[in-house]
Amino acid sequence: MLIGSTVIWRRIIPLVSKEKTMIRDLLKLCLVIFIVASHSVWIFFYIYLPDESWISMFCFICLALYAHLAVFLVICTLFERSIDFIFPQVTSVILKSRTFHTLISLGAAILLVTSGLSVTRSSPTVQSQDVYISGLSPKFDGFSIVLITDIHIGPTVGKNRVEQIVRLTNDLNPDMVALVGDLVDGFVNHLGSRSLPLAQLHPKYGVFAVTGNHEYMYDETDKWIEFFQKNLNITVLRNDNRIIRKNRSTDLETDALCLAGVDDIFTERLYIEGHRMDAKKALETCPENIPTILLAHQPNAAKKILATTEKKISLILSGHTHGGQMYPLYFLVYLSSPFLHGLYSTPAGTQVYVSSGVNYWGPPIKMLNLCEVVLLRLHPAVPT
Ligand SMILES: *[C@@H]1O[C@H](CO)[C@@H](O)[C@H](O)[C@H]1NC(C)=O
Repeated sequence: MLIGSTVIWRRIIPLVSKEKTMIRDLLKLCLVIFIVASHSVWIFFYIYLPDESWISMFCFICLALYAHLAVFLVICTLFERSIDFIFPQVTSVILKSRTFHTLISLGAAILLVTSGLSVTRSSPTVQSQDVYISGLSPKFDGFSIVLITDIHIGPTVGKNRVEQIVRLTNDLNPDMVALVGDLVDGFVNHLGSRSLPLAQLHPKYGVFAVTGNHEYMYDETDKWIEFFQKNLNITVLRNDNRIIRKNRSTDLETDALCLAGVDDIFTERLYIEGHRMDAKKALETCPENIPTILLAHQPNAAKKILATTEKKISLILSGHTHGGQMYPLYFLVYLSSPFLHGLYSTPAGTQVYVSSGVNYWGPPIKMLNLCEVVLLRLHPAVPT
């Protein structure tokens, strides 16, 4: 943050010449407000602010601009140093002008932040995906699951956005809804009422959820889980599973699937009483002869479970990566996620679907088409 702020300050202030003292002082004031606003976003997760407060919105947009600008300007500085070193005698403006590079960075940052903002202010896209599962009963052909993840109800995600997501989901008329973590980002007292529209999801086979890392950040995990179950009629699968049957009375044992879910893998690094990812326990009572679908918030959890669990898993549904969310973060996320976005097949025959999520964390900025709800349709795989 210190490097970012220094680079921004040293490169933006000289854009106005020293003679224009008034404008320069004004620019300094704006820049101080901008930097302070960018650094103060953390408070908004912990204090009460009215739903969709403009203050948190303003500060998070500043943070987005700050992050883009800092990264671009650091790259510019490194670029200029290299050029100076390699071609000391070149005088080309494009290669050498600091002012020119600063203006380009500023323009690119504003452009990307504006377009990223328009992504998160628009309705999420619907990503449709057929998934072929071996051993799936023909009675489940066409069974639909809407996968929603990373709603992140919090400082800039309010009730209107949740209502929009619920409307969109209900229009898809799914058989089941899976919420794979990071539903909320704060305290029950502040945010509970903003999550209430989720109670309007009524898929025939129910709404299922697992915890994400953000559910563990406010020391209210149990309170939230109780809220989800009681007020929103969401079944939270905590190292547990449910057998989903198409038709209770007549179906054979094989006309079913096992839906399991685990506590987030973050619980392996934090000690939170009563919470721990345990895939073995989650899958233990899933019958061998029917397909298993596992909800696990992080792709890292999916990777670990695949490496350590003997039980066959047909499909794992995850989120967490936000598909990289925004350019300054993209490569970090890319490098740290075994599965980034979309449908993957693993050698063991398990498929993994990672959604980029319906919302974002922190700055209300996302790259194009990354705010999504996923409509999965299951089909029996043709044996080969
Ligand atoms: C809660 O969800 C279940 C399906 O999981 C459904 O059968 C039940 O009617 C729902 N209850 C309410 C109050 O909506």
